Amino acid sequence: MAAARVGREVHLVRRPDGAPRPDDFRLVDVKLPELADGEALVRNTWMSLDPAMRIRMHGDTGYMPGFALDRPLDGMAVGDVVASRTPAFAPGDAVLHPFGWREYAVVRAGASGRAAKAARIETDAATPARWYLGPLGRVGLTAYVGLIDVGELRAGDVVFVSGAAGAVGGLAVQIAKLRGHTVVGSAGSAEKAAYVRDELGADASFCYRDGQVCELLAAAAPDGIDLYFDNVGGDHLEAALDLLRPRGRIAMCGAVATYNAATPPPGPPNLFNAIAKGLTLRGFLVHAYEGRMPEFRREMRAWLADGGVRHRETVAEGIERAPAAFIALLRGEGTGKALVKLQPS
Ligand SMILES: NC(=O)c1ccc[n+]([C@@H]2O[C@H](COP(=O)([O-])OP(=O)(O)OC[C@H]3O[C@@H](n4cnc5c(N)ncnc54)[C@H](OP(=O)(O)O)[C@@H]3O)[C@@H](O)[C@H]2O)c1
Repeated sequence: MAAARVGREVHLVRRPDGAPRPDDFRLVDVKLPELADGEALVRNTWMSLDPAMRIRMHGDTGYMPGFALDRPLDGMAVGDVVASRTPAFAPGDAVLHPFGWREYAVVRAGASGRAAKAARIETDAATPARWYLGPLGRVGLTAYVGLIDVGELRAGDVVFVSGAAGAVGGLAVQIAKLRGHTVVGSAGSAEKAAYVRDELGADASFCYRDGQVCELLAAAAPDGIDLYFDNVGGDHLEAALDLLRPRGRIAMCGAVATYNAATPPPGPPNLFNAIAKGLTLRGFLVHAYEGRMPEFRREMRAWLADGGVRHRETVAEGIERAPAAFIALLRGEGTGKALVKLQPS
């Protein structure tokens, strides 16, 4: 029965030159394959859009496998099992897996060949599946371990979070506040800066387009900062290096300001601060912290339930809108977690 069905998927047909354009992508109809033993067919309901997908569009850069041309893109998605030839999944199960950018995905309990590795997720009226692409998923875990494990959050730290109105940054601001810290956030518009302060609870925030980041950060954190959660790189990293106090730390999470560049821009000119002030700069990939997921989810579920953590979503509807939504994400047009809803309600 699966073989009769057709689904759509998004292919990358050209490596973007600078900011991606709609004609770098193509929507393709595909006939769904017959399932082999051990496989299940998932009807994807939501997919995640992540800035790091732009890095993979450059090809193999040593970061994660590059996206191949004329092949479907991938990324985290959730969906419902509609057919199964494995005892691991039954029709109706909600699953999380890495085969987004397509309406249907073939999955297994362990990845193999054409099938992605999927995991069942617990959903209920208060816990929609799409939260596993945001606060209850790797996005949330990134904020959590970035602050606690990588940044070694310490009592009394003043924390600066860039990209603070985004998915990871917005959660990092709130987790740091829940732990009693003074938090400064930056974002790309006055409205977003107000959201970071008034809704997410940061003590101060600024719009980085209002002037030199270094001056804006100095005004927002006149006594300096102890921990910088870096989502942006570039001018934000340079500003943080100036404002960090002795033995301060940087959790290097991302560098979205540089993702469209064909060749990596040079590092900050004031890197010598790391020596002069005894700073620690530590990069990380969240995959290395998967073991922290159960503890993180327990805490995050409680925060979501009691309102201690709030989160916004920017949603595009329909797989045909996914490329435009990804372009909009990189332009900073959304707030919170960027998602594509793949099936009508
Ligand atoms: N290390 C890991 O394992 C890991 C895991 C997940 C994500 N990340 C990284 O974490 C960062 C945030 O990811 P996310 O999923 O939460 O994305 P996001 O913050 O929700 O979306 C990206 C945001 O970046 C901002 N931006 C774009 N260009 C910018 C520029 N030139 N300067 C400053 N800000 C710019 C835009 O917001 P504004 O309007 O505020 O500019 C945009 O909304 C990214 O760097 C991502 O690669 C790392």
